[in-house]
Amino acid sequence: MQIVKDAIELKKLRASLNGSVGFVPTMGALHEGHISLIKKARAENDFVIVSIFVNPTQFLEGEDLDKYPRKDEADIKICELAGVDIIFMPTIDSVYNEDELSITAPKIRGFILEGAKRPGHFDGVLQIVMKLFNITDATNAYFGKKDAQQLALITQMTKDYFLNVNIVPCEIVRDSRGIALSSRNTYLSEGEYERALSLSRSLKLASDMVAKSELDSSKIKVAMEDLLTKSVDKLDYVAIVDREFRELDKVEIGNSIILVAAFVGNTRLIDNIWV
Ligand code: PAJ
Repeated sequence: MQIVKDAIELKKLRASLNGSVGFVPTMGALHEGHISLIKKARAENDFVIVSIFVNPTQFLEGEDLDKYPRKDEADIKICELAGVDIIFMPTIDSVYNEDELSITAPKIRGFILEGAKRPGHFDGVLQIVMKLFNITDATNAYFGKKDAQQLALITQMTKDYFLNVNIVPCEIVRDSRGIALSSRNTYLSEGEYERALSLSRSLKLASDMVAKSELDSSKIKVAMEDLLTKSVDKLDYVAIVDREFRELDKVEIGNSIILVAAFVGNTRLIDNIWV
């Protein structure tokens, strides 16, 4: 396994690879969610590149950029064990210049839900992902459904900009009690963890309602809100959208995503379920 810190060096190395490249972009502090993406990439490609980069441009003023968990040593071991060929761990200067041109998320889909609560966040995500796609020239790139809106916008970017990379959506990995794994879960105290279970429970409640043929979005959202407001400290949103992030009045089975975002203590958590 090679660890590369310079973008130009990685471009050269990539050009020497003969075969398909599976790429898994991450911000590190790797957990089983990330590992599932890496395993899928390993199974489906000749070479696997993982990037580990806490991208400053996707954090808003006052967010957790400085305290975002950094676990380089452990991450390198995890990648080694998972059969990764190349880890890309760039320095900020190796990927960013001063006064760059920018990519802006689409006006509607990029500025609802996560985009409304974190304006500018997706601009930063798309900017770094575009760079990483160009540096790695990936054949397939693996993204978790956990960040459903991110996945939808990156998929849109590949269409809008005629990129060659194939986007592979990956299932959400949860712990034994149902919480979607996230690097930010490490911020939760024991009590907060218990209360954070309400996110996945609210989604389970929603899917149970759908299974009983309740498709009315407003009824489902009210039931979820009732459950959530008892446990979380601040509910950012509950939403039901189609796979392209258009709000739905009625759940369309096979084409819907039910999402929740909430603060437990100071930690902002997101989760969703595809129905
Ligand atoms: P990060 O939060 O590190 O996530 C990296 C990838 O892992 C994303 O595609 C995310 O959806 C996926 N992931 C996280 N938790 C998961 C879980 N429990 N199950 C399945 N997949 C999961 O997302 C980012 O980094 C950044 O925005 C990035 C795309 C790297 C750009 O900086």
